[in-house]
Amino acid sequence: MADDPLTAFDEKLAKANIYGQWTGEKLFRNTDGPQPAGEPCLWKWAEVRSLLDEAAEVMPESQTARRSLMFDNPGLPRGTTHTMAMGMQLIRPGETAWTHRHSIAALRFTIEGAANLYTVVDGEPYPMEDNDLVLTPGWTWHDHHNESDKPAIWLDVLDVPLMGALNQVFYESFGEDRQPLADESGAMTARLGTLRPAWEARPTARVAVRYPWKDAEAQLRRLAGADASPYDGVALEYVDPLTGGPTLPTLSCWLQWLKPGQELKPHRRTSSAVCFVIRGQGRTVIDGTEIDWGPRDGFCIPNWAWHHHMNTSASEEAVLFSVHDIPLLRALGLYREEPEDSLGTGAPPPVPGNIADRTREPAAEQNKEK
Ligand SMILES: [Fe+2]
Ligand SMILES: [Fe+2]
Repeated sequence: MADDPLTAFDEKLAKANIYGQWTGEKLFRNTDGPQPAGEPCLWKWAEVRSLLDEAAEVMPESQTARRSLMFDNPGLPRGTTHTMAMGMQLIRPGETAWTHRHSIAALRFTIEGAANLYTVVDGEPYPMEDNDLVLTPGWTWHDHHNESDKPAIWLDVLDVPLMGALNQVFYESFGEDRQPLADESGAMTARLGTLRPAWEARPTARVAVRYPWKDAEAQLRRLAGADASPYDGVALEYVDPLTGGPTLPTLSCWLQWLKPGQELKPHRRTSSAVCFVIRGQGRTVIDGTEIDWGPRDGFCIPNWAWHHHMNTSASEEAVLFSVHDIPLLRALGLYREEPEDSLGTGAPPPVPGNIADRTREPAAEQNKEK
C-alpha cells in the first residue's frame, strides 16, 4: 500500500477495473490535435513492377484469391495509412481471381488494363482499361478475369485498417471461381444501370461502379488550367451520380492536375490520403520529408501532416489519382482543413475552391453584410 492517499486510492481503483481520469489518458490531454499516424512513404514503380513479376513466378494462382502486394507503412502496425491499405495486384493472362465478398470496401484503378480484363461486381462485368476506376463496394460479390494475352496490373485501395479498428470484418467466399452474370441467371437485381426493376428491393450496392478514364480525362481536360484551389490545384472528385456524394461511404477518389512548374501551397487535413501518379514528375513535401515521384509511383500522406505538391517539370503536366478517408470524417463531423498561410492570422483562410470552405464561405459572407 502506498503512503500517499491518492496513490493508494489509485491502486484501489485499479483492483476494481477503474481508473481516475487524472491518472492518464494522454490522448485527451493533447491540445495540439492529432499526431500524424504513420510516416510519409514512397513506393517506386520500377521496384514494385519487378516484385509483381517475381510474385507471378513464386505465387501460384491457386493459393489465394489475389496476388496483391500491399504497401506497408513502417510507422503503423498495418496499413498504408491508419485507415487505408494501398497495393498493386497482377493477374496473368487466362487467370481468375475467384469470387468473394467482404464488409471492407475496395476500389481498383487500372494500371495495365485491356478491354477483356474485367471485374464482375454483383453479376455485372465491368471492363478495366488503362486508368479506369472500378469500385467493389462493401459486401458486393466480386471476381476478376484476365482474358487478354498480357499480364494485367491494377492499384487496390481498401478501408482494411479502418474496418479492422472498428472490428467489423466479415468475409465470405462464393465457392466458385466465377459468379453467374446477371444476364445469364435472370436475377436482375444486380443490374446497376440507370433503369432497374421497380419490383425488386433497392440494391445495396451503389449505382456507379465503373468510371471510364475517357470520361474522367475529358472532364479533367475541360477544367485543366482553371483557377482552382491554391492548395489542391485542379482537383476533381469522382462522385456517385445518384447522390452527388463520394464514391464510397468511407472513401473519396480524386484526380489532380498540376500544370508544368506548378507549386501548390501547404495545408493539412484531418484525413489521410494515398496517391498514385498517373503521369508526370513531381515532388510532395510532407512534414519536411521530400517525396520525389514519377509515373506509376505510389505514396501516402498521413492525416494532419503538412503537405504540398509540386510539378517539377517545366514542360509536362502531372496527373495524380488519390483516395481520401474524408467521407468517414465528414460523417462524424471531424473533417477539418488548415492552410498553412492562415496560421496565426485569426482570419478565415482564403481558400477559393477549397472543398472544406465551399459550404462555409457563403454563410460568412452573409454575416458580414448584416
Ligand atoms: Fe476482395
Ligand atoms: Fe492536399
